[in-house]
Amino acid sequence: MITHTKTPGGFHSIEVQNKSAVAKVALQGGHLFHYQQQNKKPLLWLSQKSHFESGKAIRGGIPLCWPWFGEHHTDPALPQHGFARTSLFELLETREPDEYNTELILQLQSSEQTLRLWPYQFELLLHITIGQTLTVSLTTINCDSEAFIITSALHSYFTVSDIRDVTVQGLDKTEYWDKVTDETKIQKGDICIGEEVDRVYQKTTSPLLLEDSNRTIQICSEGSSSTVVWNPWVDKSKEMADMQDDAYKTMLCIETANALQDSRMLVPGEEHPLETSITESI
Ligand code: BG6
Repeated sequence: MITHTKTPGGFHSIEVQNKSAVAKVALQGGHLFHYQQQNKKPLLWLSQKSHFESGKAIRGGIPLCWPWFGEHHTDPALPQHGFARTSLFELLETREPDEYNTELILQLQSSEQTLRLWPYQFELLLHITIGQTLTVSLTTINCDSEAFIITSALHSYFTVSDIRDVTVQGLDKTEYWDKVTDETKIQKGDICIGEEVDRVYQKTTSPLLLEDSNRTIQICSEGSSSTVVWNPWVDKSKEMADMQDDAYKTMLCIETANALQDSRMLVPGEEHPLETSITESI
């Protein structure tokens, strides 16, 4: 079942319910902000203080960082993580192939507004499949007469029972840029979080496993060889107006990305899909 909701402020979301899961997607940003399998806890973290207002990114779920990840490389005045997450997508198609799966296809195209921020003609197609596995696939199409370079991320926020109890497996011996210390390091063993973590892992392969005390989440990626792991910890959480002070305890971002050396150049007419598939098991 697919229903449409609109807040009095005009914030438009799509709610999906099938035999596998329930999910919510905002048209702003093509932003999936809720996914919960039947009889299980929500898989994605959503801040209790998140904005649901036009022009402001939702804090939680899976924001789309595009066409640049992080700060713009030459102009820090441009929006962090690009403009896709605050742009209004159009819902092109919905499909319900069976009682267990629902597919949504959303689109964002270049406009006068986007051309002011990034001077290229493009089409972005977002395919979201809500089933036993959650799949989010973002395809960039170069509709311009010139080549362009993108960096991006499917900035997934996962709910965790207690950040000190989780491990991320699958990145042992992988090189990463530590944004907190501005150093390049090598991962030793599984990732455990006990302080602020803001890292871009390079040459990553999937699957990755997020091992919590009561469940395991498997993250598979396509079209990506970089992974961002982020937890703001105590001080940064306090600084962020749309996060509760202790919010860092119950969330962890593991982002399927095209970041740093994994940026992608697309020639005119070329397409690039970036995809994450997330499966929960007990
Ligand atoms: C992460 C970045 O992906 O996103 C962090 O690596 C950043 O540096 C975080 O702080 C949140 O970004 P924002 O713009 O949503 O506050």
